[in-house]
Amino acid sequence: MAARRESSLRARPADTLDKQAAAAEMESLREEIRHHDYLYYVKNAPEISDAEYDKRFSRLQALEDAFPDLRTEDSPTQRIGAAPVGTLRKARHAAPMLSLQAVREQADIESFLKTARKAAGGEKPGYVLEPKFDGFSVELVYEKGRLVRGVTRGDGETGEDITHNLRTVRALPLVLQGDAPPHSLSVRGEVLMPRQAFQALNKARLERGDEAFANPRNAAAGMMRQLDPGKVAGRRLDIFCYDILDSSDEPLPSQTETLASLAAWGLKTCPLNDAADTIAAIRRYHDRLAEQRETLEYEVDGMVVKADSRDVREALGVRARSPRWAIAWKFAPRQEVTTLEDIVVQVGRSGILTPVALLAPVDVGGVTVSRATLHNADEIKRKDLRVGDTVRVIRAGDVIPEISERLSRPGKKQGKPFAMPERCPACGAKVVREGAYFRCEAGLSCPAQLVGRIRHFAQREAMNIDGLGEKTAAQLVSRGLIADLADLYTLKPADVQTLEGFGKKSAQQLYDAIQNAKTPRLDRFLHALGIPRTGRRTARLVARELGSLDAVQKASRKALAALPGIGDETAAALHHFFRQEENRDVLQRMRRAGVKVGEMAGREAGRQPLKGKTFVLSGQLARFTRNEAKDRIETLGGRATSSVSGETDYLVRGESPGSKLDEAEQQAVEILDEQAFLKLIGEA
Ligand code: IVH
Repeated sequence: MAARRESSLRARPADTLDKQAAAAEMESLREEIRHHDYLYYVKNAPEISDAEYDKRFSRLQALEDAFPDLRTEDSPTQRIGAAPVGTLRKARHAAPMLSLQAVREQADIESFLKTARKAAGGEKPGYVLEPKFDGFSVELVYEKGRLVRGVTRGDGETGEDITHNLRTVRALPLVLQGDAPPHSLSVRGEVLMPRQAFQALNKARLERGDEAFANPRNAAAGMMRQLDPGKVAGRRLDIFCYDILDSSDEPLPSQTETLASLAAWGLKTCPLNDAADTIAAIRRYHDRLAEQRETLEYEVDGMVVKADSRDVREALGVRARSPRWAIAWKFAPRQEVTTLEDIVVQVGRSGILTPVALLAPVDVGGVTVSRATLHNADEIKRKDLRVGDTVRVIRAGDVIPEISERLSRPGKKQGKPFAMPERCPACGAKVVREGAYFRCEAGLSCPAQLVGRIRHFAQREAMNIDGLGEKTAAQLVSRGLIADLADLYTLKPADVQTLEGFGKKSAQQLYDAIQNAKTPRLDRFLHALGIPRTGRRTARLVARELGSLDAVQKASRKALAALPGIGDETAAALHHFFRQEENRDVLQRMRRAGVKVGEMAGREAGRQPLKGKTFVLSGQLARFTRNEAKDRIETLGGRATSSVSGETDYLVRGESPGSKLDEAEQQAVEILDEQAFLKLIGEA
């Protein structure tokens, strides 16, 4: 290496070299750079300074510029700068990419060990212990030692081709090392976004006005599914490899040897991998990793126990989607202790007052938490929460943070018990109690309710008015431009232009978006009105049964209650809404402004193939957003719920499914991949 280094440093200008000399120097530079990439990104042990490295890199670039036909695909200079792709193409995996059964209790690990021992003929088998990386699972395909393809896990059988993005991951070799990597090799690994990179990315996104990613896993997934690799390069993504999906060589006899071979080929394996053969040692690893968790650069959400020997694995076999030879032992949800600084009360669109906890900001597993939902007054009373208390905050995955309990501090006096305000904090009107809830009586004359109503009306699943978010709605209300929903349709571009943040063009755009929302489907319109007890599902049921706005408005309470799936209270709420003078007035004025609500009948009414079936969605689908998929399910008579329970008939799994998939597997719920789901809804 030393001789090469010198030759580069005393180099002649690139364009004065003959081709042969250039080719030789380029090849040796590439090898050298690959080696230093390996030391830096895989081994975490660089041997030269960044400046030294950059010198070599620029020299190689200069040579490739001078001799473009000598540039190769696997050159280190070619990680970035590939052209964006049009779409992500489908690609089949070499072997199914299975998922893992997940448990939280030691007893479940003990029974896993028992089963493994039985399968091993009574002898105590050895296990490999690995962190369970909370990242984005990928397949890497190497042909003749060259990275030729990278694929997302997708539904486990087929994923999407993301080679262009994976090439930007510097810890991933474009060319394998070592004596004799298999002629063709397919490896499984997990792409991770280190915490720091995640925070930097979110900061940049927020500054640009984009939404922040909820966690590093989503960020890694978001990056990997980009069409333009230029947006991924420089994001400091990392990868750990942990399995061979397929190989042209003889299968290796154990996981230990698999990990050793991956490492020998220059692929990055996790330095925290370990081995054990007793529950005590597994427990120790679990507890140690749980402790280390907050200080690791990347997220782990548990550990994985894998039977080491291939023979034992074969004896154990696989279930439909997860092997019997491995199990994930997940960590408890994250929690932190902080101070409850204040309890504020928010007013929703229906006037319901919701208490929200303001907390001394605390980092709960990489996410700063400063607010938590408190649900309602009873919950605060049950937990006896008071301003100034020390509280425990938990955050499970993407779920909104919650206060799990108050920590008593002997000797510390608690503040005053919380009481719901007697007057609405937004408008000062009287607050009335309805069961567990408190409601502002003012209706639409309460600005908080009106803003909430407008937002609800405009949202994508309702009238889909682009550009009418919280801020704009609040301004329209506070400036007195809108006093109810019908006023939206008489807004002029000139009115909008007076709002902060609007120019001539954006004002016209919002105006156009409102004008375009004059012919809604009946179910969407009913949902958009924000009638109490009438969510999307109820709106759809009513729309399908009654067919027109006119019929809904005229229906008696009894007729509404007789509709399938509509209870007495919902019927009463609907009936009441359409009898109220101010609502009738709003509808009348909307009609006059040109709003024409579509009618529904026939085909949709008849076709209910999903009737009585309950679905849970997990992961991202390629064809629909989550809400679109829900919409389809409900349109066809099914129900979409958010968690797996005894009532769940199907789990629809998309890209990067979460823990719901594990739950579904444990509860033996039928799992549909996207294709099977499309078939079921007749859209395959
Ligand atoms: S092994 C056939 N090992 O966890 C066994 N998976 O469902 C396949 N994961 O989607 C997985 N760290 O992406 C394995 N050390 C590890 C892992 C790991 C994270 C992911 C994997 C899988 C999910 C569990």
